[in-house]
Amino acid sequence: MLSGCASALPQTPFDAAGPVAQWQLDLLKLTLWFAIAIGVAVCAILLYVVWRFREKDPTDKSVPAQIQGNHKLEVLWTIIPIVILTIVSIPTVRVAFQAHASTAADAMPVRVIAHQWWFEFEYPGTDVTTANELYIPVGRDIQIALESDDVIHSFWVPKLAGKVDLIPGRINQMWFRAEREETYFGQCAEFCGAAHAQMRFRVIALPQAEFDAWLLKQQAGHPEVPTDPVAKLGYELFMGTTPAKANCLICHAVDGTKAQGAVGPNLTNFGARSTLAAGVYENTEEHLKQWIRKPSELKPGVKAMPPHPNMTEEELHAIVTYLQSLGK
Ligand code: CUA
Repeated sequence: MLSGCASALPQTPFDAAGPVAQWQLDLLKLTLWFAIAIGVAVCAILLYVVWRFREKDPTDKSVPAQIQGNHKLEVLWTIIPIVILTIVSIPTVRVAFQAHASTAADAMPVRVIAHQWWFEFEYPGTDVTTANELYIPVGRDIQIALESDDVIHSFWVPKLAGKVDLIPGRINQMWFRAEREETYFGQCAEFCGAAHAQMRFRVIALPQAEFDAWLLKQQAGHPEVPTDPVAKLGYELFMGTTPAKANCLICHAVDGTKAQGAVGPNLTNFGARSTLAAGVYENTEEHLKQWIRKPSELKPGVKAMPPHPNMTEEELHAIVTYLQSLGK
């Protein structure tokens, strides 16, 4: 039911890919059946009453029998909702607790920090930090600690689990497990300002061995100074070592270099990412150039990323070449 065409949709809760999403989907279906039954019953009674008490004789002005209260009816329509709410509340409370923390001993912790308007992912126990693309192993519980750097956001990967808010000043918990090797689409689900709709992310579930290789690659880093002369110029512009044109390091980090800015996304292995600007655009040379030149054209309201209108085409090309060489 309901899931016939769902698998073709990238963000649907009707195609559960793990236990948490499945429990929540079952709960949704249970409440939906009750809602349909109540809706049909109410409409049927309404239609019957309209028909039964219609005006039969336009000349008849007499007042029908007047009824004051009906104890049987009142007891019935108090008891029926109590029974329905009890049936629905038991699995609701159970799933709410089950979805909070994984009981698996080997659950992998991930820290998610929301920013206006992108997601930061940290892997505790390693020094790996990424943005907007969360790599996880298939078949393993992922325990997620949710925080916010500014306003309230909401973390939602419909195929993996229901949404949980990221609230400044507190840490919320959730977990999920991806049973299928797939790229899952996520979206901030709490209005958080101008670019809320462009605050997307992806969860990439890989077999454990491929995930381990990915993690190792993130940690291994790369030679600090590129050998390619164009990428090297880009590196110098990024690090502000040539006349300060870019100085990307003020806001961004590239692990293994002196760039340790924490305002914008960590760009270590940026070249291996499939998207930029919080999952909104494909990571192509054209998009990246446009993004650096005038970020607000790609993402209205974008915070913190200043435009660089005076950069020459050659300098822009060099920075893009450097960034896309990272992690390749
Ligand atoms: Cu972040 Cu909406």
